[in-house]
Amino acid sequence: MTDTTSGTLRLPPRIHVGEGARAQLPLLLAEFGRRVFAIVDPFVATTPAFAGIRHAIEAEGAQLTVATEVLPELPVASLDALAERARAAHPDVILAIGGGSALDAAKVVALLAAHGGPLSRYYGENLVPGPVTPLVAVPTTAGTGSEATPVAVVTDPDRELKVGVSSPYLVPAAAIVDAELTLGAPAGVTAASGIDALVHLAESYTAAPLGAHWDAALPVFTGRNVFSDVIALDAAGRIGRWLPVAVAEPDHREARRHLAYASLVGGMSFGATGTHLSHALQYPIGALTHTAHGVGTGLLLPYVLDAVRVDADAAARIAELGRALGSTATSEAARIDDAVALTAELGQRIGLPPSLAALGLDAAELPRVAELGMASARLVSMSPLRADAELLLEILHRAHAGTLTKRSTR
Ligand SMILES: NC(=O)c1ccc[n+]([C@@H]2O[C@H](COP(=O)([O-])OP(=O)(O)OC[C@H]3O[C@@H](n4cnc5c(N)ncnc54)[C@H](O)[C@@H]3O)[C@@H](O)[C@H]2O)c1
Ligand SMILES: [Fe+2]
Repeated sequence: MTDTTSGTLRLPPRIHVGEGARAQLPLLLAEFGRRVFAIVDPFVATTPAFAGIRHAIEAEGAQLTVATEVLPELPVASLDALAERARAAHPDVILAIGGGSALDAAKVVALLAAHGGPLSRYYGENLVPGPVTPLVAVPTTAGTGSEATPVAVVTDPDRELKVGVSSPYLVPAAAIVDAELTLGAPAGVTAASGIDALVHLAESYTAAPLGAHWDAALPVFTGRNVFSDVIALDAAGRIGRWLPVAVAEPDHREARRHLAYASLVGGMSFGATGTHLSHALQYPIGALTHTAHGVGTGLLLPYVLDAVRVDADAAARIAELGRALGSTATSEAARIDDAVALTAELGQRIGLPPSLAALGLDAAELPRVAELGMASARLVSMSPLRADAELLLEILHRAHAGTLTKRSTR
């Protein structure tokens, strides 16, 4: 049964979303102090938009240091070096501008600057000992929602899969979400990041419910709850409508505005609830195929929804998701069929590969992927349907072949 009275939210104390919202930055940063250490995506750092931000912040009297060493996949050694630079600058506040990679790099730097390394001390949940250097997060993709979440994901050569640091202390002090910064982003970046936001919304909305007991030590991700229920569906509908538009027309302002907002809501929603099986499976698939996070999660989502629909609560929710994505079917079963088909169609329209085979994953790897997926115990435990290696393998086989339920005609 769904509890409509319990929930947890952990959010940045300040969130501004809207085209032009970056104008808030100079005064907002000044509230923390004069020394600003900025971690900026290397491409974004070359844009006129960033030049404008820099000028405005410095004009307000800030002493700004800019670092652009954000490496793909965020190898831990690169973050140690970045944190060293940050410590030397004694920042009052850290400013992150870029995609999920820059934002996650900044979360790690804010942590290391405050508490020291090695980062491996904090892998997992709730191991950050206290507040980190305040972080103001400004996303330039839509997106990961990292500007609103308590997690950073990095690569450690000692670990087979990417590893996460999750702690309420990693939630940024402010999120400034300005769609104008995402204008012109290429189709591939728009598609991969945008579909991941839909997966965040769909998986937070269908996550296992908040446990019955309020244990004193609450996990970082607490399961679906009354707050995410309120915000997730509208945002999912916006992604369904506007993501193909932004992929086709990178300068479409209205599409970018809806996606920036929906991505933020995805972070707000899953930052409390957690995500589940598409994410659990994407970590090993990403490691094996070296493909973007959102390409994997987006490709898997319809298969995951189709697999967990046998749970009655999940079924009702997937049907609602179908409605939010545009299904007008009258029966619940048909709306679920539509949710599955519409998420798959969206993936096709934005250019995702049609199957795990097309992604370059060898069929012989599937049992190993299922096993590694099960190792993400936190994500697996958030599945609305109790998941075991067999269920994961079934999802993988279907996603590998590219076979799905057909869309309802009712
Ligand atoms: N912390 C979280 O809550 C969370 C959630 C989901 C994903 N992630 C992580 O986020 C990362 C992916 O982030 P992402 O999808 O935003 O991509 P990204 O930050 O890795 O950037 C991808 C590419 O897009 C470019 N780019 C960024 N903004 C641009 C713009 N406005 N115009 C043109 N190019 C631009 C970058 O230079 C880069 O080449 C992964 O490491 C993933 O694990 C984190
Ligand atoms: Fe994601």
